[in-house]
Amino acid sequence: MANFDVVVIGAGPGGYVAAIRCAQLGMSVACVDEWKNPQGKASLGGTCLNVGCIPSKALLESSENFERVSHDFAAHGISATGVQFDVAKMLARKDKIVSDFTSGIGQLFKKNKVTAVHGRASLAGREGEVWRIAVAGSEALLARHVIIATGSTPRALPQAPLDGTRIVDNSGALSFSDVPERLAIIGAGVIGLELGSVWRRLGSEVIILEAMPVFMPAADEQVAKEALRAFAKQGLKIHLGVQIDKVTQNKKEVNIAWRDAQGATQELLADKLIVAVGRTANTQGLGAVDAGLKLDAAGRIEVDAHCRSNLPNVYAVGDVVRGPMLAHKASEEGVMVAELIAGQAGHCDMNLVPWVMYATPEIAWVGKTEQQLKKDGVAYKAGQFPFMVNGRARALGATAGFVKILADAGSDRILGVHIIGAMASELVQQAVLAMAFSASSEDLARTIHAHPSLSEVMHEAALAVDKRALHI
Ligand code: FAD
Ligand code: NAI
Repeated sequence: MANFDVVVIGAGPGGYVAAIRCAQLGMSVACVDEWKNPQGKASLGGTCLNVGCIPSKALLESSENFERVSHDFAAHGISATGVQFDVAKMLARKDKIVSDFTSGIGQLFKKNKVTAVHGRASLAGREGEVWRIAVAGSEALLARHVIIATGSTPRALPQAPLDGTRIVDNSGALSFSDVPERLAIIGAGVIGLELGSVWRRLGSEVIILEAMPVFMPAADEQVAKEALRAFAKQGLKIHLGVQIDKVTQNKKEVNIAWRDAQGATQELLADKLIVAVGRTANTQGLGAVDAGLKLDAAGRIEVDAHCRSNLPNVYAVGDVVRGPMLAHKASEEGVMVAELIAGQAGHCDMNLVPWVMYATPEIAWVGKTEQQLKKDGVAYKAGQFPFMVNGRARALGATAGFVKILADAGSDRILGVHIIGAMASELVQQAVLAMAFSASSEDLARTIHAHPSLSEVMHEAALAVDKRALHI
């Protein structure tokens, strides 16, 4: 039986990064993963690379390009007639990006001498200091340390069972062979809004049904309001406070019976339905219960701040544990755990995990929202600046949105940064870095920002905290 210092279960961004970091630190590592691509071949990278972050961003870019050429280029004096798109080519481009990245992980494993094992792994007991990990279809592995990174799967909605064709989850929604004329989505979360944007840009009439009475409750309220306005202007129809009663279908269409916020019965007919109502931790088949692994009330593996489970030398990272279900959070936890196993001081600050939504405009934030600060009774100052008066934003034709910086009223330390606007996904990183070094808004305000650049909006927002923005 092969014996390793560490066996990692799951090769998503939590698991594969943990495996590489362990190898870098001189440990012998195996990473077991059961994912198969649609061709039935083992495919590393987990949800993120196969059916999540990477393919969704590929389609967001393709559809955004179509929208730009169709609507925005005229303002630049560029005319394009007879603009068409080819869904099959878009999907093929997306699939190629996915396969390049998933096979790239195999190469990274080889380079770092990580042993890749295909199959479903489960904890099969501990003898002395050594864990036994059973792998379906393959020889069991032995390891002193186990890192569980088994990710998450889409949460099912009993009223709307998936059929993989007409009623789909994120995987199906990334592979429609034609643009559905009428696309219904249950859940106005990140998947609903990103994938709704993709298909709306390509011509679908998109209707999103959301249970919560509030739109994007995790975002800063002002950002959420601005986003809702922008999405409505683009034609995304979003109904809040709904209840889904029953979903039926025939050969032609899906029929969704739902109740609106006032309780009135409604009916929605659609060609396709995407169910995107959140994800649940994946502990299935892991032997978690038999091994005595403690789960929390939401079914996630219970861990401490250092991702230690209740079992000796068993760690868990990423979507399968508490905290936001984000790839970069999973990876950072993977690095932390590898370093802890190596006897170093691993660390992962949950307050510094950036959030990004890749719609138009992009939305990104880090740290506390204004409503959280109010709730916690923290005295704060806010500075805000719009993209509208920024030279680069004007040149790009991307003038929607603003940056808002929240700083402690006493110390001026930055507590949160909220961005809605072009390249928010890139701009937010400046805020993460500033906050990681406990910067004050004055530190940002006194930093030279290149002109003309979108980052000047961040600079002006920092100046605005002290009521001295220069260009407004
Ligand atoms: P996963 O990526 O889910 O990987 C877990 C792996 O473990 C899988 O390969 C699975 O097959 C394997 N596995 C499970 N059980 C076993 C077992 N018993 N034995 C062997 N293998 C097993 N996040 C972002 O940060 N940015 C984005 O832009 C973004 N976009 C997304 C878009 C979509 C449509 C979706 C669905 C998600 C998106 N996410 C995004 C979330 C991101 O994909 C997840 O947070 C991330 O993949 C979690 O990583 P993980 O390693 O914890 O788990
Ligand atoms: P989500 O949690 O973002 O949104 C799910 C939405 O569905 C919520 O607004 C919820 O209120 C709603 N909902 C739940 N039950 C419902 C019901 N019965 N009827 C109507 N609405 C209902 O989850 P989503 O969009 O499925 O994405 C899962 C996770 O994947 C996200 O939480 C995020 O962590 C990750 N992700 C990240 C992305 C990014 O970073 N850009 C992109 C896509 C996904």
